[in-house]
Amino acid sequence: MRIDIVTIFPTFFDVLGLSLIGKARESGVLDIRAHDLRDFTHDRHRTVDDTPYGGGAGMVMKPEPWGEALDSLVGDETVLIVTSPAGEPFTQTIARELANESHLVFACGRYEGIDQRVVDHYAERGRVRLLSIGDYVLNGGEVAAMAIVEAVGRLVPGVVGNPASLVEESHEDGLLEYPSYTKPSEWRGLTVPPVLLSGNHGLIASWRHDQQVERTRRVRPDLLPD
Ligand code: ADE
Repeated sequence: MRIDIVTIFPTFFDVLGLSLIGKARESGVLDIRAHDLRDFTHDRHRTVDDTPYGGGAGMVMKPEPWGEALDSLVGDETVLIVTSPAGEPFTQTIARELANESHLVFACGRYEGIDQRVVDHYAERGRVRLLSIGDYVLNGGEVAAMAIVEAVGRLVPGVVGNPASLVEESHEDGLLEYPSYTKPSEWRGLTVPPVLLSGNHGLIASWRHDQQVERTRRVRPDLLPD
């Protein structure tokens, strides 16, 4: 999968050289490139923002640098992802959908966001998704893009060594995951639930499912059907 990220802070994405995503880049499974939006400006100050029409606080990102940057990257196969607190909530379902794509381009906004015509223009020509990673406001779209790249990237075949570990995770079956334990069986007076030491795989599976339901009901009742 090819992933291009347009941002005014390309070095922000250097951390994608680490861990499993970094290994997948080395092996060629993921081709991730960060691009500096300011390289698509033509004035001495490399200006990317201006005051908002209609007034108000803050600055808005100008459409021209975005148009030049995205024209150089967006093709017929591309899904353009614009990270924004005004986007649809990013979920594991969307991560799975995006993991099937061959090319993602991320547009990371700063300030009060990107001139709306940029989204409208590319939505007329191709596939655009405005995505939010949660109901809070970040200083820019970079952290959101990073979260989405990691959530999507790890679902691309060959990125996570043991694909079985992707199956029993939170959100994969609509429930939160069950609690996990490892050795020693007693730590600071706390013991591991005896069922996990029983060797009875049927009993263990049913205990884990009960834990998933109980945990989900307690912290995320919104995930359960009515
Ligand atoms: N940019 C600023 N806040 C954001 C959020 N919550 N999700 C996605 N992009 C953002």
